[in-house]
Amino acid sequence: MRRTFTLGWITTAVVLLTSACLLPSARAQSAAEKLYKSKCAMCHGADGSGNTPAGKKTGVRDFRSPEVQKQTDAQLAGIIAKGKKDMPGYEKNLKEGQIKELVTYIREFAKEKKK
Ligand code: HEC
Repeated sequence: MRRTFTLGWITTAVVLLTSACLLPSARAQSAAEKLYKSKCAMCHGADGSGNTPAGKKTGVRDFRSPEVQKQTDAQLAGIIAKGKKDMPGYEKNLKEGQIKELVTYIREFAKEKKK
């Protein structure tokens, strides 16, 4: 009885420690991913292609296209903050760090396509 109890605690401790070591990078990624999916994917598409009904209507460009990727991080961040054409600006709703994470996330789409 007592032994199972201790074993249980050790297992819990090991699991907690392992996840604490693995989480930080995964968490940063999924925070941006979550944000993107909740606020941006309805227009820009889960894959960044802009291939959604709202995306087609508003004429968004494929994030993986050279026209989008040739812009600097600062330019992309500026568009997310201030908006562009039919896209609302997010500077009031998102922190600067979150906007930067979204820019990184948008760059990932282009990398995935090249693979
Ligand atoms: C209502 C639909 C809509 C939503 C929601 C939306 N966008 Fe946009 N987005 C647009 C449109 C329209 C453009 C301008 C496309 C163009 O240049 O013609 C744009 C442009 C951009 C650009 C510049 C790329 C380019 O085409 O030069 C970035 C970066 C961007 N959006 C990121 C985001 C992010 C990040 C979110 C979520 C926080 C978001 N968008 C949410 C419609 C939307």
